[in-house]
Amino acid sequence: MSIIRVEDLCKVYQVKKLRTGALGGIVDLFAPQMQKKEAVKSIGFSIDRGEAVGYIGPNGSGKSTTIKLMTGILTPTSGKVTVNGIEPYKKRKENAQRIGAVFGQKSQLVWDLSPKDSFELFRFIYRIPEPVYKRNLDKMMTLLRISEFDTTPVRQLSLGQRMRAEIACAFFHNPDICYLDEPTIGLDIVAKEHIREFLREINQEKETTIILTTHDMDDIEQVCGRIILINEGQIIHDGAMKQFREIYGKERVLTVQLEEDVTAMSIEGTRSIELKDRVAKIHYDKHNISSTRLIQMIASQYQVLDCHIEEPRIEVLIRDFYEKRVDQTC
Ligand SMILES: Nc1ncnc2c1ncn2[C@@H]1O[C@H](COP(=O)(O)OP(=O)(O)OP(=O)(O)O)[C@@H](O)[C@H]1O
Ligand SMILES: [Mg+2]
Repeated sequence: MSIIRVEDLCKVYQVKKLRTGALGGIVDLFAPQMQKKEAVKSIGFSIDRGEAVGYIGPNGSGKSTTIKLMTGILTPTSGKVTVNGIEPYKKRKENAQRIGAVFGQKSQLVWDLSPKDSFELFRFIYRIPEPVYKRNLDKMMTLLRISEFDTTPVRQLSLGQRMRAEIACAFFHNPDICYLDEPTIGLDIVAKEHIREFLREINQEKETTIILTTHDMDDIEQVCGRIILINEGQIIHDGAMKQFREIYGKERVLTVQLEEDVTAMSIEGTRSIELKDRVAKIHYDKHNISSTRLIQMIASQYQVLDCHIEEPRIEVLIRDFYEKRVDQTC
């Protein structure tokens, strides 16, 4: 059952067009020239309860704008967003009770308080019952490893520590949906891993719907079952991650460690073969030749010590997808 419905959604910003030169600056003060920026153009999708969706696109493609429309921070220019049956911007308070939001670039913690005191404040604002709060606090302390810094003032926390505390805040009131706009921006690999693990667990255990925007495809790969790709304010792909891999990730690389030197290798059905230091890297399309067949063919002709198959990383697939689209539109 869908929890979020987005229909024909558009957002147009009014942007000041600045004139050049000193005189232009003075004229701008009294008679600013305005122009329109269509950030989101007729977007439509629906999201079911418990889904984890990666919302992906290049800089300026409209991701944050869509998230702000879904959370009710912005009002649509046209079209409609329905979350839990309500239009978020019309009932912001009611909506806020049921959602959590993390904006990587913006803090919702109080700088002079410790994370623990900030959490208490959240408990009060959201009127979270004591047992729910206690249970969640225990969970956050362990999963997000907040106990290491829970009594330090927020202003003294590292970016990774602060982000873990931000994420905790977004989940204390057991929201149905959590929107995360670049929650891992600027974090090291360990901090990113903690956040991904946490999101995975919350999504699976509590069936919290997760909408995640990020430029880190490992976040998407590890947390999301579905991806929506946007470009210049429009959706260009929407589907299961598995299906995306299936369609666009046909290429495989089989690496074979050989017992003897081989100067040339040619195998029918493969794309290319690189040979170096008794290692052969064989590029092939899994729809042209199966991995088993390929390994059998190699093992029948050469002495093989070891082999392994690499799947392309989702990052590479998405980059290729965007590049192909740019080529098609040129
Ligand atoms: N408040 C605003 N006023 C005017 N234009 C805006 C405003 N916010 C965003 N824009 C413009 O709308 C477009 C979409 O911006 P948005 O922030 O939604 O992109 P994004 O996909 O989140 O990008 P990024 O990956 O850089 O975070 C951009 O061209 C941006 O300049
Ligand atoms: Mg953004």
